[in-house]
Amino acid sequence: MNKRKRKAVIAGNWKMNMTPDEAVAMINELRPLVKGKRGCEIVLCVPAIDIPAAVKAVKGSRIKIGAENVHFEEKGAFTGEISAKMLLTCGVEYVIIGHSERRQYFGETDETVNKRVKAALNAGLKVILCVGEVLAQRDLGITGEVLSMQTKIALQGVTLDQLKNLIIAYEPVWAIGTGRVATPDQADEGNGVVRKTVEALYGKAAAEALTIQYGGSMNEKNAAELLGKYNVDGGLIGGASLVAAKFAAIVDAAQ
Ligand code: 13P
Repeated sequence: MNKRKRKAVIAGNWKMNMTPDEAVAMINELRPLVKGKRGCEIVLCVPAIDIPAAVKAVKGSRIKIGAENVHFEEKGAFTGEISAKMLLTCGVEYVIIGHSERRQYFGETDETVNKRVKAALNAGLKVILCVGEVLAQRDLGITGEVLSMQTKIALQGVTLDQLKNLIIAYEPVWAIGTGRVATPDQADEGNGVVRKTVEALYGKAAAEALTIQYGGSMNEKNAAELLGKYNVDGGLIGGASLVAAKFAAIVDAAQ
């Protein structure tokens, strides 16, 4: 399949940054910079508290709003959690699931990632599923096994039809927030492993159609080269997504 037939998606992950006022200011700055950039889908995944302001601020533009996590139950005694329905009714379209920071600091496991993925897809959210190896795993030479395992467990019970609402982001943990970006070949290789794993589960056509992002210190300088790789269909961007001009430059690189 021609890579150009896959949907390119440039998504920001703001993590725990930006107040609602700051979110609106950034979006107002970003809007004119990405106007008419139809070569990719543009998503900003923002802290839950920013969602209503951000949804309002992107109205009339092509920018979509995503959340950074979602709970797998529909409702109930889960203090501090947010359901898929709550996100949807606030105008959220995307949700990041299984980010390495959730796995590292908040006890997220492959099993809970799988539960969240199923709950989000069943509710009608689009999912950005994150997978990635830590440095010790790369040094051991088991990156492929780790990516394949995380992908397989996360997708258990996900139907072929639901794949159209799924994006996978390969984010090597050692490249996140470190300034140490994967080489374009490493990104292509990691994304390629994810695609092969999806092919084994769902067949070649589904795997070739799947949008697979790279994430980890992607910025306005290295984006074009990373996005030029066959298996890299977009980016999940942390630090550089907080600055309108930098994020817009990455959107440019995806055109
Ligand atoms: P950085 O771009 O800041 O390395 O973060 C990447 C990331 O974790 C996106 O989800």
